[in-house]
Amino acid sequence: MATDDAGTTGPLTTTAAIPVGGGAVFPEHGVVITQPTAGLFLAFSTTCTHQGCTVRAVAGGTINCFCHGSRFRITDGSVAGGPAPEPLPRRPITVTGDSINLG
Ligand code: FES
Repeated sequence: MATDDAGTTGPLTTTAAIPVGGGAVFPEHGVVITQPTAGLFLAFSTTCTHQGCTVRAVAGGTINCFCHGSRFRITDGSVAGGPAPEPLPRRPITVTGDSINLG
């Protein structure tokens, strides 16, 4: 389970929960985790750089904001389409075994 506000420890998620060539959004943690290629896990902010909506889904190789259609590449957060002016910022994660943690 994810770390809660009380500070108990636990993984944010597991590697098995992140599809290769895709990703998953964790809005409660403000992070989207992707796995562009097998075994490579990246994390980005969920805050769209256009007008600050929370990105909603990972599909078709991009992290997608439904507010105005911005799309960010799962490989590096760079803008693939839509009005967003900047990439999604990276977030630090640590992968230990099959566990993925923030920080
Ligand atoms: S806020 Fe995401 S596309 Fe406009």
